[in-house]
Amino acid sequence: MTAISGIRLQSRLAALARFGGLPGGGVTRPAWSPQHEEARAWLLAEMRGAGLEAWVDTAGNVFGALGARAFDATHPAVLTGSHIDTVPEGGSLDGALGVLAGLECLQTVHAAGAPHRRPLAVAAWSDEEGRYGSLFGSRAFCGTLDVPRIPEMAAVDGERLVDAMQRAGFEARRAPEARVPPGSVAAYVELHIEQGPRLDEARIPIGVVDAIVGVRRSRVVFSGQADHAGTTPMDRRRDAFLAAADFALKTREHVVSRGSSRSVTNFGVVYVHPGASNIVPRRAELVHEMRDPDPNVLERLAGECAALAQDVARQHQITVEVRPMSATKPVPCAPRVQKTIEEACGALGLASQRLYSAAGHDAQNLALITEAGMIFIPSKGGRSHRVDEASDPAAIERGTNVLLHTLLALAR
Ligand code: GLV
Ligand code: MN
Ligand code: MN
Repeated sequence: MTAISGIRLQSRLAALARFGGLPGGGVTRPAWSPQHEEARAWLLAEMRGAGLEAWVDTAGNVFGALGARAFDATHPAVLTGSHIDTVPEGGSLDGALGVLAGLECLQTVHAAGAPHRRPLAVAAWSDEEGRYGSLFGSRAFCGTLDVPRIPEMAAVDGERLVDAMQRAGFEARRAPEARVPPGSVAAYVELHIEQGPRLDEARIPIGVVDAIVGVRRSRVVFSGQADHAGTTPMDRRRDAFLAAADFALKTREHVVSRGSSRSVTNFGVVYVHPGASNIVPRRAELVHEMRDPDPNVLERLAGECAALAQDVARQHQITVEVRPMSATKPVPCAPRVQKTIEEACGALGLASQRLYSAAGHDAQNLALITEAGMIFIPSKGGRSHRVDEASDPAAIERGTNVLLHTLLALAR
């Protein structure tokens, strides 16, 4: 049976981790940053060295292909991929694994001369982590970018997408040109670390993803009154940060008690203005994120949390504004792709388990234009979005062989 080279894959994972690598381990490689652009150039060279056609589209997505250079409906491609951008202080596998495993599979097919009727391609989707807008590259490819919003898209620190892309040599207004014709992708399958503890704890080598959560993000801005932090009596303060903190605690309680068993919420960004120890905060901004695999639960919770923000603001005698930032829809994975992954596991003698993905992935955009699915491998201790994210080399090799045989079956 054709098999990938685990050693070659590990050496590429180590090489990619050096772009944006942190002294104590881990990686910071945000989309469009100089580190990301160096990684992109390295990836293109690796793809070409492996015998693939390689190119970059107007949205900054990198592709490597065997068989056909473009996506066109007369020769629909079987596509795999993931992303090479990372969160700040992230790990070396989130995204990188899916891209380099895809490259490894295509190189293996090429070298072995394994038959495939359909073209095979691997993608590195731009800005999956959503520094400027979540799943940006795959949205552009699938035609679901909110085009009028492109000029105003910005990171939470205010840096505009237009400027970040320009710095990297891209024109944001041309990103929508990355859209491919309907019918040009026959199927999509993405290999990813699970990023949670389920497979690791159950000691199951392969997860077959049956659905992917939706993620909603909004900016919640509380506005109170700046005052002298020493002289203003405590009962006369209109402290925006205290309201924001109260809202964060009440939101957690609400989502845990009124959401589904799968609902989660997070406040990962907090800004306090003017931001001095001797000034009562005039404004506090939070980025609020919520996830659930059920779109109705997510919609209901979003409405309830917006109402909760108003209640909290009233109690603190200040005002609040809730500005939606992004919303991805939960999607089911294609039954045919799930079955093909399970058959590949069967042929390789590997146990598998169906599970939903609690993280967002580019596959959820691809699911809108083709039959899409995902393969998960265990994450040690369920750790991810942290510098010590890890999976066993043997687990990586197993998952990549499952990807290889899934791709070959879909391309047959
Ligand atoms: C992707 O990493 C996510 O935030 O789910
Ligand atoms: Mn991630
Ligand atoms: Mn990822």
